[in-house]
Amino acid sequence: MTATDTPITDAPPAPTGPFGSVFGEVMSVVRFADDAWGEPTVVSINDFALHPGTHALHYGSACFEGLKAHRQADGSVRAFRASAHARRFERSAKRLVLPAPPPQLTLQMIDMCVEANAHLCPAAPGSLYLRPTLLGTDINIGSAAHASHSAIYFVLASPVGEYLPPRPLTILVERVTPRTTPQFGSVKAGANYAMALPVIEQARHDHEADQVLFAPGGVLEETGAANVMLIDGNRIVTPVLSDAFLHGVTRDSLLQVARSLGWTVEERDITVDGALEFLKSPTSALALTGTAAIIGPVGTLVVDGVRHDVAHADGIAAVKAIRARLVDMQTGASSFDFVDE
Ligand SMILES: Cc1ncc(COP(=O)(O)O)c(C=O)c1O
Repeated sequence: MTATDTPITDAPPAPTGPFGSVFGEVMSVVRFADDAWGEPTVVSINDFALHPGTHALHYGSACFEGLKAHRQADGSVRAFRASAHARRFERSAKRLVLPAPPPQLTLQMIDMCVEANAHLCPAAPGSLYLRPTLLGTDINIGSAAHASHSAIYFVLASPVGEYLPPRPLTILVERVTPRTTPQFGSVKAGANYAMALPVIEQARHDHEADQVLFAPGGVLEETGAANVMLIDGNRIVTPVLSDAFLHGVTRDSLLQVARSLGWTVEERDITVDGALEFLKSPTSALALTGTAAIIGPVGTLVVDGVRHDVAHADGIAAVKAIRARLVDMQTGASSFDFVDE
């Protein structure tokens, strides 16, 4: 965890607009040029400018992270599992042949951003959502077959309220089309989200679905913005990690907590039919996990045009209970020694 050394007791109220649409006025920033990282600084977000010929804008040399800093009982603000996000960020950058920020640099960048924006962090259940972003900045529109040798790296801060869906989600299961190309699914790159959009928009239009659960070949991977897990009593079943989907830090945190409680955790292939069978149990739940919402239950699964009600009161209660445990760890009400992947 990363700490600020400027505890603030008067937390502001959480913004009421859409999640991620309000920003702190300053961000931390550092540039990579001539084979070296420069010195991180804090600057106004309004000073940001890119040349229209910037590599990232044309050739997708861009990746990002998403994590939260939470106000603790003593007023200080701490980022949750910053080192796990820093490691994933480095992996994403390497896969895109971008200058890869060493995790130590990312921790410093996150610290600087949190410290400069700590006064904006609402009390729980609100938080400061942080967005480390890396862009290839070579200015060359004829550079399609070359990596960018220069980069800008910044961390944005966005004060947010609790991210809770207004009702149990409706999820369409897509059995054919993958979310993105299988070898890039574990990279947190904007292009992955763009590739999933046509499928999600279609599902919204045709079935009033909130999201799509991608299950190419009939095997569950993840939704457009979250990992998935099946829960029943003290048992969690979740897809085994692969390059095809994002290795969620929330997924990992929940599995570590569950294992510490003595729960059975199965990381394995889950077929669509196997999931539907699992969800017949009246104590079961299908849950989505991610930094924004932490963990939330699915209400309806749309499979091959058929709507399945998978919301069971006991399953939803179990999801809420494990969510509450993780929130306590994020806000410092309880502690847990997470181990990074
Ligand atoms: C595609 C996708 N999968 C999974 C996740 C969950 O990752 P994490 O728990 O690290 O936020 C996210 C982000 O929230 C995501 O965008």
